Amino acid sequence: MATRTAAGDLRQFLKELHDENDLLIVKKEVDPAMELAAITRRVYETEEKAPLFENIKGREGNGLFRVLGAPVGLSRVPGQRFGRIAKSLGLPSKASGSKIIAKINTARSLQPLEPKEVSTGPVKEHKLFGDDIDLTALPTPLLHQHDGGKFLETFGMHIVQTPDGSWTNWSITRGMVHDKRNLVGPIIPKQDIGIIYQMWKDKGEDMPWALCFGVPPAAIMVGGMPIPKWTDEAGFIGALVGNPLEVVKCETNDIRVPANAEFVFEGTVSITETAPEGPMMEYHGHVWPNKSKPCPLFKVNALTYREDPILPICITGRSTEESHTVWAVMIVAEVLHICQSAGLPIQNAWCPFESHAISYVLQVDRKKLLEMKTNMSEFSNKVGHVVFGSKPGWYMGKIFLVGEDVDPTDLRDVIWAESTRCEPGTSEFLFDEYGNIPLIPYVGYGTKPERNHKKVVKCCMLPSEFEDEELSWKVGSFWGSYPKDVQDKVERDWVKYGFESL
Ligand SMILES: Cc1cc2nc3c(=O)[nH]c(=O)nc-3n(C[C@H](O)[C@H](O)[C@H](O)COP(=O)(O)O)c2cc1C
Repeated sequence: MATRTAAGDLRQFLKELHDENDLLIVKKEVDPAMELAAITRRVYETEEKAPLFENIKGREGNGLFRVLGAPVGLSRVPGQRFGRIAKSLGLPSKASGSKIIAKINTARSLQPLEPKEVSTGPVKEHKLFGDDIDLTALPTPLLHQHDGGKFLETFGMHIVQTPDGSWTNWSITRGMVHDKRNLVGPIIPKQDIGIIYQMWKDKGEDMPWALCFGVPPAAIMVGGMPIPKWTDEAGFIGALVGNPLEVVKCETNDIRVPANAEFVFEGTVSITETAPEGPMMEYHGHVWPNKSKPCPLFKVNALTYREDPILPICITGRSTEESHTVWAVMIVAEVLHICQSAGLPIQNAWCPFESHAISYVLQVDRKKLLEMKTNMSEFSNKVGHVVFGSKPGWYMGKIFLVGEDVDPTDLRDVIWAESTRCEPGTSEFLFDEYGNIPLIPYVGYGTKPERNHKKVVKCCMLPSEFEDEELSWKVGSFWGSYPKDVQDKVERDWVKYGFESL
């Protein structure tokens, strides 16, 4: 068995969080009917330790399941706000946003490390089949008061395969408990799971499926990444963690699942049967109550699980939860890769979590920009077409282009640049030839346009940044307004003045 790493094994991830004082084991009984979720929501909003709930009302003895809240929430541990994101990707907990994006993209240049099949693993410790399974008996948390049901699946990984077995997709999409043996959930046709589902529909057969909870942290990160179609996530994850993942065959179909997953549902997704699903609070922090939609049924034929398994959950809503720390971060990495592959001088990228996975900041490499001998309009249009026309572009409403004196991961910098350098109308470039995910509130609930809702590139750079080698302005800040020797003295004597050390 390969060495256990935090990125490759949830239990090791939790051990390290605990050692770093970023995990709280909650032994007090909590009610799955909203109390557990409300605690987790407060944890996101205060950037508190991730709670591992061990004593859930209605949970019998050692059965299914403990619940891990805010698995990739932000952290209050000094210097490691992004610690859970970094650790999920095999980085030290103090890694910066730029290091995180760089790590994901470095893995892109490596050969995929295909998963290694093993004969058994912890996920096979216990097995249940057929009518011995009763999803309604599980202490599934109710996540928000306006949700249309209990969502068991918010941070698990679906695995599906094309009928010919040539492409396997690992991805996250929500799932609500429907009855004893069925979940119900949306399958968006544009996503890879939707494309594969259509292939099974064309063939006239229900889609074999597995849903894995508590998978290696790097796997769930990549499950939320819009990597190119026909790429297997598993090989990319192996390259990312530096070890092939160990997978084991399902009991009732040919799908391979991570051997160290906490628990796995095996079954089929119906191509004919649907049931009402939702609503569920969305990643942008809004829900329109009472709006359910018919969605396919996911039938569970087998359940395998390790001793005392853990269900990781994401309580969607206002930032910062996993839709932002996982989905948006992985979109950013993909977009940076797409820009660089298209020869665009973009050196860094980020999604301010406060934009709820809708606005993205791209930082320009000015040296390369000047070599292009371009101008604001030409360049902004080029970026817009490359990014909005790409697979992740569908999720993105707004791009902020910033220069080198603006840190894309610092919202204060981004707002400063947008407010001071982006001239309304003149520095904004609109695109209506690319579609938007309808979940964005102004798309689903905004004014209906004649064509598609527009997307925008906001150029937060001045025209001179496209022409002059040196920036013509100086910045009014501690770092910009004083010579180095004065800065050094003030830093050195900070505590002597009577301030607390920073
Ligand atoms: C916590 C979390 C929850 C998500 N929930 C959903 C969801 O309910 N529906 C959905 O379509 N995508 C959801 N996503 C986004 C998809 O996982 C993501 O777009 C993924 O890239 C799609 O996979 P694909 O590349 O295979 O198309 C979620 C992502 C995360 C991180």
